[in-house]
Amino acid sequence: MKQPIRIAVLISGNGSNLQTIIDHQKQHSHEYEIALVVSNKADAYGLIRAEKAHIPTEIIEHSKFEHRKAFDYALQMAIDSKQIDLVVLAGFMRILTPAFTQHFLGKMINIHPSLLPKYTGLNTHQRALEAGDTEHGLSIHFVTPELDGGPVILQATVPITENDTKESLKEKVHQKEHLAYPLVIQWFAQNKLQLKNNQVWFQQTVLSKPQQLHHLNDQDI
Ligand code: GRF
Repeated sequence: MKQPIRIAVLISGNGSNLQTIIDHQKQHSHEYEIALVVSNKADAYGLIRAEKAHIPTEIIEHSKFEHRKAFDYALQMAIDSKQIDLVVLAGFMRILTPAFTQHFLGKMINIHPSLLPKYTGLNTHQRALEAGDTEHGLSIHFVTPELDGGPVILQATVPITENDTKESLKEKVHQKEHLAYPLVIQWFAQNKLQLKNNQVWFQQTVLSKPQQLHHLNDQDI
């Protein structure tokens, strides 16, 4: 049997996505293992989730470093010391240096709460509401030096209804995030996903547009 790939999950806060990855791994997958959880904040609740699941954790506080480069280098060292195959950003609220993104190019993914290229950066739910959009959602993408700009692997949409607030919208998006992120990690672990020439390849074919969660067949899930 193939050895499971080793993933590191980087967080800054609550870690509900981390939790679904932990649960999915336990219940459904021997194809990956969570070898490390890193937080840039000592009080991130996600650290408790990781400890409960007996996953090694590290706290690397950005505030203790003089500049971004030094912080990213410490982060890189921590990840590299654990022989990690895939870095999973799950609510990690730091902008990464080009040197860091280059080091993990093709081996680092992020989840962003909008239908990219719409609404890179922060406050995505509020911005979707203010724009009068009728749908919103999430994107999972390979990380490149461009902030929230790497090639998108998968998207999931949610409808925006009259009564939605930014909180209700956030909740709806979170529910879809929890289905989508473990799935994409599983694809990577199964060797189905690659980044080549700034394009996503899925099962040896270039993706002309992102996969859509609701279009997937049973065998993909
Ligand atoms: C998610 O909405 C994700 O899209 C964004 O940060 C949030 C993290 O939530 N990048 P959680 O910490 O996983 O609950």
